[in-house]
Amino acid sequence: MSYEDYPTDDPAVVTCGLPYANGDLHIGHLRGYVSADAFTRALRKLGQQAVYVCGSDMHGTPIAVEAEKEGVSPEEFALRHHEQYLETFPRFNVDFDQYGHTHDETNTELTKEFVRAWEDNGYVHEKEIDVAYDPEADQWLPDRFVEGSCPYCGEHARGDECDEGCQRHLEPGEIEDPVSTITGNPAEYRRREHKFLRLSALQEHLQGFINRVEGTSNAQNQPREWIEGELQDLCITRDMDWGIDYPGEGAEDLVLYVWVDAPIEYVSATKQYSERTDDVDWESVWKDGDGEIVHVIGRDIIQHHTVYWPAMLEAADYTEPRAVCATGFVNIDGKGLSTSKNRAIWAEEYLDEGFHPDLLRYYMTTASGFERDVNFSWDRFAERVNSELADVVGNFVYRALLFANRNFGGTPEASLSDEVETEIAQAMDDYEDALNDYDLRTAGERTVALARFGNEYIQRNEPWKLDDEAAAPVIRDCVQLVKAVAVLLHPFTPEKAEEIWTQLGEDGAAADATVADCLQEPPAEFGEPAELFTKVEDERVAELDETLQEKIEAASSDESDDEDVNDDPDVELEALADDRIGFEEFQSLDLRVGEIQSAEGIDGADDLARLEVDIGHEVRQIVAGIKQLHDLDALPGTRVVVVANLEKAELFGVESNGMVLAAGEDADLLTTHGDSVPGTKVR
Ligand code: MSP
Ligand code: ZN
Repeated sequence: MSYEDYPTDDPAVVTCGLPYANGDLHIGHLRGYVSADAFTRALRKLGQQAVYVCGSDMHGTPIAVEAEKEGVSPEEFALRHHEQYLETFPRFNVDFDQYGHTHDETNTELTKEFVRAWEDNGYVHEKEIDVAYDPEADQWLPDRFVEGSCPYCGEHARGDECDEGCQRHLEPGEIEDPVSTITGNPAEYRRREHKFLRLSALQEHLQGFINRVEGTSNAQNQPREWIEGELQDLCITRDMDWGIDYPGEGAEDLVLYVWVDAPIEYVSATKQYSERTDDVDWESVWKDGDGEIVHVIGRDIIQHHTVYWPAMLEAADYTEPRAVCATGFVNIDGKGLSTSKNRAIWAEEYLDEGFHPDLLRYYMTTASGFERDVNFSWDRFAERVNSELADVVGNFVYRALLFANRNFGGTPEASLSDEVETEIAQAMDDYEDALNDYDLRTAGERTVALARFGNEYIQRNEPWKLDDEAAAPVIRDCVQLVKAVAVLLHPFTPEKAEEIWTQLGEDGAAADATVADCLQEPPAEFGEPAELFTKVEDERVAELDETLQEKIEAASSDESDDEDVNDDPDVELEALADDRIGFEEFQSLDLRVGEIQSAEGIDGADDLARLEVDIGHEVRQIVAGIKQLHDLDALPGTRVVVVANLEKAELFGVESNGMVLAAGEDADLLTTHGDSVPGTKVR
């Protein structure tokens, strides 16, 4: 199935991953909220009706754990953060049509309705499972109340997710060597009845869904491994007080798992919006499929939005999302942000530096492809602001409007040239195409390219050398380009675009203009313009860098007494190679899919293992430095990538006839995910 291009006749509902109401917002969070905000505004530019909804995620152990540390009730704690988010978002021009929270009445009731629907449709069952228990604290240990090692990759993990390793969601009872985060003591596993959502019965639906869903390729591909493998049912209850009570029979002392009521807030917020405005009928969007549901999230919660959430929707007869767009992470110094170690740039901190929010918005939405991680640096920030926003956009708008105002008091009377009309029309098309590909960066770059064209155009035509009559058509063209830039730039830098709009003497708001307005006549009269952007000075960058560097150092000296194990993986990235190689040189590598047949340690060698690897044509003996890093007994059957034409070598007296590719310090083995057989060439 393929979807109709945007704009469609139905309303779009754009959502963004709900922030846990447990701390300050940082630039990592902002990447998602700003991107989804820009995407919503850009859809409106295409003439699509679009609403942007979200809310605070109030439940679950992320809140319970922090509230306990502070000695306040989870509700009070979460509400305080919720209020804070309500104030922070508008300061970044993030303009939600509805921003609720998961603990409000709408969401509480709707969540219970979902669960009852699952029960009625036969998707819920009960099962006795192992649940971690702290005998000293005399308490069950759901999710973040327990830590241990991931049964899939061995990394340190928290109760419900392998946040430092393979990023998998973990079910209660799965974590190995469980330790209570309350007392620090080893936890016991005790038997306990819980409720489960039958994901296994929804596998076929999910396999269809993943082929239909639009969005970013990470969201379309990463879940395949799970959806195609054996799907485990999802435990939807927890032994806690804080949360939404389980509505059905036989679970009176259980609350729903936070990942049940959290995504339902997307629906609840739409419902609240439609009760408030009449603009959108939430049921026709969410139940009848008459809407375009687009989820914007960070890449850490892809599994929740492409496996659990579509299953939850289907089991309650709701509509599936049209698209899931997962942004890469924002890192600092090549490492993940860390709240507890203060390795972050805080939303407030950015504003306190006196920078305009639109600068960060522009940088965040166009710094890299949507799915790529961004390594935040003040240097890059300043470079983008100075060379694109100031030198290209700001400079062009100011020059064009100043000339127009001084010589003509506004837009000169002349007709638009074919060249400029074509250029603008092309930009409009490219912009629309980029948005249909969920490619915000290209839409933003295309806009800046139009301003760059404007600068070249004015330079090439040198209106300052012409008399007014000859200059008029040139300036007329330039003012039209300014108007088009204002319209197209608006989703990225809304306030700055409104400034241009005012300078142009337009009535109304740039927010209400659509792409079609790019070619509508600009006002005949307007006043003198003012500069739009101030450059970030080199000294300023040096200062900011120094402060950031101090933070980074403080954070890494903290690393030993690491009490916050909830951070993103700490990877020190090696620099990219400067030397490029030709395609031919690359092709001279004979890379093949192999399948490990046997693996055993080499006596006397600490790190080395002897592998027998089937590479289709033959079985090769290969020595690999993975003895300590992998469970050798578990390796047979694993598919790997082998350099087949590497010179033979002898290691510890054992001949190695090829090399197995692996990533990083932990020798993370490269594998394949489709059905390529041993011997298949890798290119
Ligand atoms: N509450 C859950 C989401 C529930 S959605 C039904 C959650 N909360 S969060 O506070 O941890 O993250 C909120 C959003 O910010 C998520 O979309 C998450 O992916 C994103 N990010 C959090 N840290 C980030 C970076 N460092 N970089 C980019 N996005 C980040 O997850
Ligand atoms: Zn793992």
